Amino acid sequence: MHILFVTSEATPWSKTGGLADVCSALPKTLSLLGRKVSIVTPYYRCVRDWFLKNRGAEPEAMYGVTLSAPMGKNECRGGVRKATLDGTNATVYFIEHNDFYGREGIYNYQGVDYADNFQRFAFLSRASLELIRRLSLEVDIIHVNDWQTALVPVYLDTLYRSRSRLDSGISFGRVAYPKITDVAGDDAPLFDRIKTVLTIHNLRHQGRFWRGAMDSLGLDWSLFSYDKMEFYGQVNYLKSGVVFADAITTVSPQYAQEIQTKFFGERLQGVLRERANDLVGILNGIDTEEWNPAKDEYIPANYDVEHIYPGKSECKARLQEELGLPVEPKTPLLGVVSRFDPQKGLDLVAEVAGNFIEQYGVQFVILGSGERELGDRFRGLAYRYPRNFVLRDTFSVALSHRIEAGADVFLMPSRYEPCGLNQMYSLRYGTLPVVHNVGGLHDTVVNGSEENIRAGIANGFLLYCFSVDDMTKALNWTLECYRHRPDDWQKMMRTAMSCDHSWQKSALEYDALYNKLLSKI
Ligand code: ADP
Ligand code: GLC
Repeated sequence: MHILFVTSEATPWSKTGGLADVCSALPKTLSLLGRKVSIVTPYYRCVRDWFLKNRGAEPEAMYGVTLSAPMGKNECRGGVRKATLDGTNATVYFIEHNDFYGREGIYNYQGVDYADNFQRFAFLSRASLELIRRLSLEVDIIHVNDWQTALVPVYLDTLYRSRSRLDSGISFGRVAYPKITDVAGDDAPLFDRIKTVLTIHNLRHQGRFWRGAMDSLGLDWSLFSYDKMEFYGQVNYLKSGVVFADAITTVSPQYAQEIQTKFFGERLQGVLRERANDLVGILNGIDTEEWNPAKDEYIPANYDVEHIYPGKSECKARLQEELGLPVEPKTPLLGVVSRFDPQKGLDLVAEVAGNFIEQYGVQFVILGSGERELGDRFRGLAYRYPRNFVLRDTFSVALSHRIEAGADVFLMPSRYEPCGLNQMYSLRYGTLPVVHNVGGLHDTVVNGSEENIRAGIANGFLLYCFSVDDMTKALNWTLECYRHRPDDWQKMMRTAMSCDHSWQKSALEYDALYNKLLSKI
């Protein structure tokens, strides 16, 4: 089975969030399980810089391979560079198009989205199919991720396959389907065997553009209808992917349920419910080599579940020192590593921090950047409580590891959370997470209630409502356990550190899904 991943981000070359982690860890695990795996992703400037810095040369250019696609009146052409995913034999194809990808940021410049994102990512989608044709790749599954690559199933189904998925009468009470343009020609057999999987990492971001964008996609305008690509007068890439993909997954079972409701559905709940039979939630894993307190090279002392101390206390002391906080072993240290985005619910942290500092003298460390207003609130707290509150408004992988290891508690009160990786890193590092009971947080954190602690299954703390009140209650209880129930706390740490969130299990679930799709005619 050959699985081709198409993604707009992949570590270590390009990353803005968890999407990048997943899009290299999942292919890696599948490859180690013996599957043939390839990745298609843009050759951004940061990718080139990574290769120059870490390999001393750009990845190998595939001379003579040009991918061209009609995008409206223009013919867009891209080149291909090739590399191997470290530790595997998976091939990575970088799509090179200097105008589209040779820029400073991945999606935006200084917080403003590039105006041509609709073209940049439509081209990526189209180019991945042209790559299959040009190299005669025998691909069984194309696995696409989020809105940026959600047009792959649309192009495949309407231009390259000889028979549309929608023609099999599976979907929507739809009207006449546009004729398939035979772009594939003699290559149709290469495309007819392929099934597509679309993974939704975050439903909020849908790739919505003005209707005129249709003119540059090289797709028939008849697709611009409510049951296909149109969404309240705009073109919606993610919705289009949901309609055309053979299967849809999202990154936790709980989020798979949530997105079918009005509250979490971001106005796509109806379309998602139509596809409920083809929609599953598969929990993300974490890279247990990168995030391993027993081997982690970023942290000052290593530890594991059998020998938590003195390693973890050493990590805490060194972190306090690094941050300029008083080095006090008994003072609870609460950490955050996050994008500053309304999704993450960090306004609750800003709201309650002052009280907890004044009442209990706790310490906070916040690593993250993004939304200006939230950053300003945190800066205000750091100014007001210099001995208790530290903000590092930057992106630092090394510091993120040191926070995971050195803090006692990790805060992640997200309004919604498709999966979330940081709470799983925290569990592994014995840093108990305090989270809102949604999405992947619900699926990974078991609340430290009396009953759950007794049963030995508690590994963190939950807020059941997104409110200042619940945040205060949850934190009060967390601190009560930390200070006055040291045995329970140790027990919870051990439970947390013993959770297995390696990719192995999830990768097998994806594998089963691919097999199921391929066994359908
Ligand atoms: P999301 O993708 O929604 O941002 P996740 O929890 O899935 O949330 O993934 C976030 C990823 O980005 C994690 O790997 C986390 O460590 C990393 N991250 C976020 N902000 C920072 C930062 N300021 N410095 C270092 N790593 C960060
Ligand atoms: C998104 C989600 C996050 C998830 C990540 C990887 O960025 O916000 O919850 O963990 O994708 O799937």
